[in-house]
Order: sequence, then C-alpha cells, then structure tokens
Amino acid sequence: MKSLMFDGRVVLVTGAGGGLGREYALAFGERGAAVIVNDLGGDIKGGGRSSAAADGVVEEIRARGGKAQANYDSVEDGEKLIQAALDAFGRIDVVINNAGILRDRSFGRTSDLDWDLIHRVHLRGSFQVTRAAWEHMKKQKFGRIIMTSSAAGIYGNFGQANYSAAKLGLLGLANTLAIEGQKYNIHCNTIAPTAGSRLTQTVMPPDLLESLKAEYVAPLVLWLCHDECQENGGLFEVGAGWIGKLRWERSLGRTVRQNNHNMTPESVRDAWNQICDFTDATKPANIQDSLQTLVEVLSRVDTQDRIKGNPTSSAGRMNPSDAVGRSLAEMTFTYTHMNTILYALGVGMSTKDPHHLKFLYEGHEDFSCLPTFGVIPAQSSMMGLSSVPGLDIDLPRLLHGEQHLELFKPLPTSGTLTSKATVADVLDKGSGMIVLLEVHTYSGHELLCYNQFSVFIVGAGGFGGKRTSEKAVATVPPPNRPPDAVIVDQTSKDQAALYRLSGDWNPLHIDPSFAAMGGFKSPILHGLCSFGFATRHVLKQYADNDVSRFKSIKVRFVKPVYPGQSLQTEMWKEENRIHIQCKVKETGGVVLSGAYVDLHAVSDSSVSRGPPETDELQSDLVFAEIRRRIKDVGAELVKKVNAVFGWEITKDGSTVRRWTIDLKSGGGDLHGGEYKGKTDVTFTVADDVFMDVVQGKINPQKAFFAGKLKVRGNIMLSQKLEVILKDYAKL
Ligand code: NAI
Repeated sequence: MKSLMFDGRVVLVTGAGGGLGREYALAFGERGAAVIVNDLGGDIKGGGRSSAAADGVVEEIRARGGKAQANYDSVEDGEKLIQAALDAFGRIDVVINNAGILRDRSFGRTSDLDWDLIHRVHLRGSFQVTRAAWEHMKKQKFGRIIMTSSAAGIYGNFGQANYSAAKLGLLGLANTLAIEGQKYNIHCNTIAPTAGSRLTQTVMPPDLLESLKAEYVAPLVLWLCHDECQENGGLFEVGAGWIGKLRWERSLGRTVRQNNHNMTPESVRDAWNQICDFTDATKPANIQDSLQTLVEVLSRVDTQDRIKGNPTSSAGRMNPSDAVGRSLAEMTFTYTHMNTILYALGVGMSTKDPHHLKFLYEGHEDFSCLPTFGVIPAQSSMMGLSSVPGLDIDLPRLLHGEQHLELFKPLPTSGTLTSKATVADVLDKGSGMIVLLEVHTYSGHELLCYNQFSVFIVGAGGFGGKRTSEKAVATVPPPNRPPDAVIVDQTSKDQAALYRLSGDWNPLHIDPSFAAMGGFKSPILHGLCSFGFATRHVLKQYADNDVSRFKSIKVRFVKPVYPGQSLQTEMWKEENRIHIQCKVKETGGVVLSGAYVDLHAVSDSSVSRGPPETDELQSDLVFAEIRRRIKDVGAELVKKVNAVFGWEITKDGSTVRRWTIDLKSGGGDLHGGEYKGKTDVTFTVADDVFMDVVQGKINPQKAFFAGKLKVRGNIMLSQKLEVILKDYAKL
C-alpha cells in the first residue's frame, strides 16, 4: 500500500514547541509537508514567552531533511500565523489547532482571568487561526482542520470548568465548520487525545505518563489531514495507540403532550423512565435528524387524541411482545418499624395471639418482618406497566392473576430498598394478555427478594403472541387427600381499610361507588392481603413463626374476598413444600389456588450469601481489615475516594473471590460475592500479587504494566487505591 505523504502541502501546527504539537510537526515534516511550527513558548498557565521551543522543533525537522519555519505569535493573533505560512511557503492546507494552557481551579474559585485566558487560547485562538485560513482553503478547494478537544470537555472533570467549557466549545465549532466546509473539500475533525506531556504531568502517575506517548496520537491526526481521508465532522478519543470514534445517542423518548391538554411536569415525571431509557436508542447524526422527530411529534399530536410511545418508534403499531425485556423506572422504598407493624396488622395479626407480638412490637427481642412484606416495595412497579411502550395497558382492565415471591434473606424491619423491574414475558391468551413482571429488590447491593407478578389484561389478547412462557413460575395443585392442617381466621370489616395503608391505594378496596363500577357489591379485600394471611398460617403451622424458614410462595388469585369474611387455609405438607388452598369459609369459594409455600429445612435456614468458600486466601485478611476500616472511617474515605472498586482475586488462573469496595455512597461498604451494581473500576489480580501490592513490594501501576494486574474501567482511579491499601503494609 502507498504511504501517506504530504508533499506540496503546507501545515500549520499551533503550540508545536513541545508535547503533542511537536510530535505532529515532526511527523508532517518527515512525510514531506512544509511545516509552520508555531509556539509562544510560554509557561503552562499562559505566562511568559520564548522562541526557543519553536526553534528547537524547526531545527529537528530540518535536521531530518524536512522543511519548517518557526512562528512565535500567540494563536490569539491568528492572522499572523497564517501570514507566516503564506510568507514562507505560499499557501496553507492544513491547520492543527493544538496550542493550549491550563488554569485548573474548582469552579467556585475560578476567576474571570482563569476563565477568559483559557477561552482566549483554546476557543478564540482556534477560531482566529482557522478563520484566517478559511478563505484560502475555500479558494483552493482543499483544507484539513483539526480541533483539539479533551475528555475533560466531553465528560467533565473536577477542577476544569473553564477548560471543559472551552474544549467542548471547540467541538461545536468543528461541527459547524464540517458542514460549511464540506462543499469546498474542507474537512474539520476533532480529537480528544490523552498523552503524557507537561500539561498532564501533574494529574498522571509517572509510569503512565511515560507510557502514553504523544507519538501514539500523531498518526490519527496525519490520517485525518490527508487528501485520501473523507472523514468530516468526526470526534475521536485517542491515546495509548487506541482510537475510538464517538457519536450522539438519543433515547426513543416519549411524547408526554396530548392534544388540547396542558403539558404538565407530572406527565414528564410519569414518563421519566421512558424518556431516559436507551433501549433501541437512535443515533441522530445531524440537525435534520433532530428536527425530523419534532415534526413527526407535531403531526401525531395534532391527528390523535392521545399519543402514546415514541414518535420514531411508531409505538401505536408496536406488538406487545416487543415490550419483553423492557426495564421500568427503579423504585426506592424507605420504611421504618411502623410500616412493618402496620403490614402485620393489615394481614390480620393481633395481640390476641401472644405469638404475634414479635411482629407487632418493635421492642420485642425477636422483632421480625413478615416475609410477605417483600411484595410491598415491589408492588408500585405493577402500576408502572401502563407506561411501557407496546403494552398500552388500561389500568382498570388489569387483574392481578398470580404472584410469586422468593426471599434470599429475612427482610429487615426498617431500611431503604430499591426495586428494579423488567417485563419478563408477554403472553397472548386470546381473551386477554398476560404480562409477567419480575422485580428484584435490593438493600444496597444485596439482593433481598424476587417477585414475579403475573397480570392479566382483559381484552388485550389476539396479537399473535405466544401462549406460554418458560419464565413463569408454575402453580401446583394440592395432593389428592384431605388437608393435613386447616387454620381459619376471620378478617375484620376494616381489613382492606387497614391493608391499603401499606401502599396499595386502589379505591376498589375502600370506595363503594368505585367497587360498584367494577361489578362488586362492596369494596373487596386485596388479593395480596389474603396472600399474607395464608402465608402466616403456614409459618404458624409448620415453622413456629420463624421468618428465616420462609423461602418462597406462589399463588393464583381466583375470587375476591369481602372484608369481614373468614379465610380458611388448607395445608398439605410434602417435605419442605406446603401446598395451600384458601377458601372463604362462609361460601366455600376458593380464593387462592395452586398455591404453595416452600420452607427452608431447619438446618439450612440461614440463607446469607457470602462469597463461595474456597481455601483461605491471604487477601481475605486484608479485605476483613478494609471492612473494619470502612466501619470506622468509611464516611471520610467516601469523601476522599468517591468510587466503587471491584476485585477479582485469582488463584491458579481462576477467580476464587469477588469483592466490592463501595466508597461512593453513605458510609462506604464492602461486600463479597457477585456484584449487581456498576463498579467504576475492576481489578483482576492473583492473591499473591495482591499481597505484594498491599505490602508495597510493587506499586499498582507497575503491576499493571507488567500484566499482573488487569484493570477494567477507569484506570486513573487506581491512584486512589493507595488511600485504601496503604495502611495494610503491616499485615
Ligand atoms: P503542552 O503544554 O506540551 O503543549 C501546548 C503548547 O502550546 C505549549 O508548547 C505552549 O507553549 C503552547 N501554547 C500555549 N499557549 C499558546 C498560545 N497562546 N499561542 C501559541 N502557543 C501556545 O501540552 P499538550 O499536552 O501537548 O497539549 C496539546 C493540546 O492537547 C492542548 O490543546 C491540550 O489542551 C490538548 N489535550 C492534551 C491532553 C493530554 O493528555 N496531553 C489531553 C486532552 C487535551
């Protein structure tokens, strides 16, 4: 293949006296270009001046047989730089806007001067130089321009508000130049480089600084500036020999306005999940793509009474099956012992039974939360189903068909839990549609329980979907013999009024006129209330009211119960499975069918899930110490570190332990085992190398470059490891 040469081309590189600029100038010079080596020769903050920097690079180019001329003007005098090119070589073909300075300050301390100087050199300087070259490029119908942005601009970086703003401003400038220049064969691209230089020496560890050579950036710049390269308007991250292209991504979004209705903040809030959901996101490439969406929205809102879903996804025509895999907005639920007690009362616990006291009195030595309380933090997700695109659920037609709940730990009696819900499957039952919604509920990063809601939407079937799902937890009929035990409990007249205080506010359970609209003679009891009654009957009969014995439950809701009626729970014991059937005693009508509770055997009632036990590792000791330290000074560490570190400790080549050190929230945390959340950086390291790092025998950067420490995520955070590990050298 032919080499990429620049013979006959005149290239201006600003700030070429050192760092990246020097590397570009040398590379262009080597490949035949005549190079204007511009540099003011100032200090890193923009003070001082000297011709030495530019002269030195010109000499280097000439020594290698290249053509070069120095220029010492500031980029703020753009005309002068271009004039220098015209004077020396008669034309200007390529402009590399590279000159730069730093004046890092936390935002509150940024002075006018800090702001203005950065903008003057980076943004205004690039504007001045490029504008001066523009007409020449237009006339000759050739031009290649590079803008130098930065990861700090793209993502933000602490202490660099002025710099970030200017650097992203350059991208905006480049985007428009790419459009205006296209027909003149003027291409403008932007790079966000990472390289060791005097600008980065204060923020990078020395090893890294040395490894991220400026010569790993120059080849991209040369390619983008060659005649052959048709790239225009691109943005590239480049460093360490790696190059990646960036683009915008936009969620499908959601139209929240309806024809002839005011658009409200509440409608925005209620659609927030979808507005921010990047599933099937689009990648608008230009302003036309952006406007097109709005035009579509306008025509749809005007022609429809009610707009649902996304304009670009033609939600109205979406098949409900397309909703499978959709996640709903994460729900946070904070509760105290009051909620736990209220729930226990709601499912019929009473001080009349002395065994119930431990569910009703926070001062009880064995104060416990009923296992079926696990549905409470998850239940609001069911209401969220109405906003899932494709499902088009009309809430009044939604019937709660079945429920499965599994606990991985006994529930705490108070706390803050988060629930993540996903549409697991959608089934077409002809007369209606079944949506399986699964909800995982966490305390911090620890999975507490799993709910599977099965809801039936009357009249929404017939869309050609599948009829069964392997994901559905099945109901099981009871054994064919009289029940082994029966417990009867009368619900109170106010049972539904009490139960609804746990969070299911549906008026069907309290408002007579609403109940009448649904075809009921009076408000009905919540299905999940009967579910709570039945479960506590099983716990009483077979588990001595010990909540840690509860593993899971599955029920099908068959018929409603009216408050005041008696619930009769029939039970069949088959090893650790207790089959149940619940009836209204007064009528004999079955309320819950195909139901069962699975209990832990007495011996395996502890379900705490730590890391899998293998032989003791040396690192275990260190993590135990770290855990202790987090307990003591976690909040302080969180302030200093503000990151989540994942660890995979290997032995003989396979991972034997996983740990997560969360120093991002609250008072910090350390947990073992599989991690559900997102770590900022994850290290994979052998147990013995870990100990070498901890004991200071090898520093983390060295271990990384020696291939002994693998890092995924933000490698820069490895610098902060010292804060966590330094105290363990004595171990
Ligand atoms: P550097 O400090 O080695 O080079 C910048 C050069 O620009 C210096 O030689 C300086 O004298 C010159 N300069 C400063 N103000 C000037 C002015 N008004 N007129 C003419 N020349 C002037 O720094 P480095 O790292 O090579 O940076 C080059 C560019 O890359 C800068 O725009 C910087 O913001 C950008 N960048 C660098 C990164 C890195 O990792 N090194 C990261 C992201 C962006």
